[in-house]
Amino acid sequence: MIRATGFCIFVAFSLTSLSCTREEAPAVADPRSHDYFSFANTDQFVTQHLNLELTVDFEAEELRGSATLQIRRIENDASEIILDTRDITIEATSFVQTSGEMLKAEHRIGETHSIMGTPLFVKVPADIRNEEKFTLRLDYRTSPKSTALQWLPAELTAGLEHPFLFSQSQAIHARSWIPLQDTPAVRITYTAKIHTPPELLALMSADNDPGAERDGTYEFEMPQPIPSYLLAIAVGNIYFAPIGDETGVYSEPELLEASAFEFADTQTMLETAEAMFGPYQWGRYDLLILPPSFPFGGMENPRLSFLTPSLLAGDRSLVSVVAHELAHSWSGNLVTNATWRDGWLNEGWTSYLEHRLMQVIYSEARADEENLLDYRELLLNFETVNPAMQALAPTLEHGDPDDFQGIIHYHKGNLFLQYLEKAFGRDVFDVFIGEYFRDFAFGTITSEQFLDYLDENLLSAYPGKINREQVKQWLYAPGLPDYALIPTSRNLDTAAEMAALWSSGEIDITDVPSAGWSPQAMRHFINSLDSDLSTERLNELDAALGLSATSNAEIGRTWFIQVAQRQHRPAYEQLEQHLRRYGRTRLVRPVYVALAQNGLDLELAKEIFAEVREVYHPLTNISIESAFSRIQETGN
Ligand code: BES
Ligand code: ZN
Repeated sequence: MIRATGFCIFVAFSLTSLSCTREEAPAVADPRSHDYFSFANTDQFVTQHLNLELTVDFEAEELRGSATLQIRRIENDASEIILDTRDITIEATSFVQTSGEMLKAEHRIGETHSIMGTPLFVKVPADIRNEEKFTLRLDYRTSPKSTALQWLPAELTAGLEHPFLFSQSQAIHARSWIPLQDTPAVRITYTAKIHTPPELLALMSADNDPGAERDGTYEFEMPQPIPSYLLAIAVGNIYFAPIGDETGVYSEPELLEASAFEFADTQTMLETAEAMFGPYQWGRYDLLILPPSFPFGGMENPRLSFLTPSLLAGDRSLVSVVAHELAHSWSGNLVTNATWRDGWLNEGWTSYLEHRLMQVIYSEARADEENLLDYRELLLNFETVNPAMQALAPTLEHGDPDDFQGIIHYHKGNLFLQYLEKAFGRDVFDVFIGEYFRDFAFGTITSEQFLDYLDENLLSAYPGKINREQVKQWLYAPGLPDYALIPTSRNLDTAAEMAALWSSGEIDITDVPSAGWSPQAMRHFINSLDSDLSTERLNELDAALGLSATSNAEIGRTWFIQVAQRQHRPAYEQLEQHLRRYGRTRLVRPVYVALAQNGLDLELAKEIFAEVREVYHPLTNISIESAFSRIQETGN
């Protein structure tokens, strides 16, 4: 099955024809009340608790066992529960009666939708129909194709000896490893018992015990209610190193020391975040460093953020990703977007809080640099995203939640909150932040509920500063309002000036004071070079600054995008190494795109991808494939 981007959805294995058919998620009149990306009838039933008992089978590449859901009926006559699944085999369904006796249930499997997966319908038998709460047990197996799970052979791990499994449930992949109501609008607590090969350790987004005995059976509890996209599991040759009293890092032993060094500031981050945003509600905060194919920079699985090893730069220069994932413990995990269309409430808020943390823990200058780089990415993004989707809270009727928004939710959301902070003053806004997290704690919220809350607590409470229409412009209009605050950074301005002076030949490369620059300044310097530099001058630059040889993944990303755009062939071998070394989508996809778009190298890009793709994550591959098809179809 090919899952496509944007507005056309292709179904490849159509039995009747080879042509692509267009499918749409059901259109619903009011975009505010419905989650387009789930089949679950949450207006009739809601799940409250999940118990998992699963065996991790690396040979079959499957999880096998049961999910037991405690469900509450909210509509009296409702008689059928609809759950989300994808590529899951349901072996049996039964109701567990209060006596403990099992009552076999009748279920049927619905039609598969290319994005949403397959609905599972379970009849609630008459005997149970009057009960307000009941327990449904599903015996099942996942498929090796599960979109949430990556089963890595030993060769793709740091230690090369043991296999590794990790999940990535956001946005709608939890349904490919657990049959459940897969919508952020429903929060559940969970318990789990996981059986693994005895030499491996299992971790979950739950109460991991750093001192757990390695015996192949691991029990977990997540006592705080969480949305389904935060369900997470990892299994591998994983060890623990403490950072502070409540913080630590898990990784393969080969990376443990480097990880403990890189993320040594995590305990300080946690304490700073608590002082600024209110109590941390989750117990411990640990990090898990994954193998290179982990497709994101980080994922905010509660109590245990998952991170890409590409952050191990050796100088702590990429730890804003940790600040980001930690901040999600408030924005996202504590107060959750009700649907993926409201994703800016998770990502925009988190980007804003991330910058606030970076200011305090590192410096205003560093936060300014990162803020300006993000803003530049936002401007580039506006050039490619259709105007209707440039709203923070767009009207959505179909599409794939893995594809839309991204950068806009993050950086436009951040600028919106910086604008509010500026208008009301930091002191007032900080009180608002604390109250917002307190008032909506363990709840879900839509953009419209946020608008009303903001109106009541800031706009109307402090009249004459910002009106509701201005806020609506941020939420519903494309681009940026002309009163947005434009980020600035003295350090990056200097780097850009140096790039102009060196490009025009006014100064030598030895006059560029790059030794004292942050990696962020170096990236801005690279992005600010003249577009028509000769091969010799690019070689000179590369030799002097060591760009192709950089061990900083973000500098590499920036440089190799330029290398590809400029067709700077002397660095193509190292460009290819970059594409083999990293798996995080953000680090590789734009380099492929730049090659494919430079007018000469589409075939080369596809050749490299064909060779390297087996080490990438399926989600990364889908996203690169869809970029190639778009470029082939539209020319860019
Ligand atoms: N929750 C996201 C990752 C994500 C987003 C997964 C959408 C699936 C769908 C995570 O918190 C995130 O934003 N990661 C960023 C970090 C960066 C912005 C600091 C990433 O991976 O690049
Ligand atoms: Zn995020």
